[in-house]
Amino acid sequence: MSESAEPSLAAQASSTAEAARSVAGGLFVTFEGGDGAGKSTQADLLATWLEAQGYEVVRTRDPGGTPLGSAVRALLLHGDHVDQRAEALLYAADRAQNLAEVVRPALARGAVVVQDRYIDSSLAYQGAGRPLPSSEIRELNEWATEGLWPQLTVLLDVSPDLAARRRASAGQQADRLEREAAEFHHRVREGFLALAAAEPDRFLVLDAAQEVKELHTQILSRIATYLAA
Ligand code: TMP
Repeated sequence: MSESAEPSLAAQASSTAEAARSVAGGLFVTFEGGDGAGKSTQADLLATWLEAQGYEVVRTRDPGGTPLGSAVRALLLHGDHVDQRAEALLYAADRAQNLAEVVRPALARGAVVVQDRYIDSSLAYQGAGRPLPSSEIRELNEWATEGLWPQLTVLLDVSPDLAARRRASAGQQADRLEREAAEFHHRVREGFLALAAAEPDRFLVLDAAQEVKELHTQILSRIATYLAA
């Protein structure tokens, strides 16, 4: 093939970019659940599957999806005692930055954003786990995010005991939140379940004790309804 007939690398790259499938207005999917529920594993599997279908996927997380968020994450999880109001504000600040820098631009391009944790984590951990009024946590976070909620939230429901066993068998060091008492983690779990019960259309609740593959299949069958729309 002559040089002129062969598409340049730049042209190939741009035709690949043009070929990427998009979703009008983007699709925002979040994964929620207690520590050790398997959120990151399922989020990664979903992202890989979507990419194989040709979608642009942006994989991110709360806290820590941006450079500023990484610094906030280190303070929240690996620092000394954090006052509960400071804690709620720091999670919301991380979220505002991630939304402005990562999530909104991706949705505007028609990408699928697959994110570990979002406002529901603040409602469950700070609103249900800590003695802070849930309504105030909601108000704070709706201000931080200008009211942007995901279309789909996958809640991987796990008993705190099973989650603690999984973390121990993975040899993971507990972070500041994971070191909270069992009662705290029970309140968080109940908080997540109450949020899901209040918004059944947004939530897909799955028993995280199931096999990784089974969970992935159930998530794919739900995601298909958003992609077909
Ligand atoms: P993870 O990203 O490894 O799941 O860790 C984040 C920790 O922070 C986890 O223990 C849950 C906690 N958390 C909150 O307490 N509130 C929040 O808003 C978020 C996003 C996380």
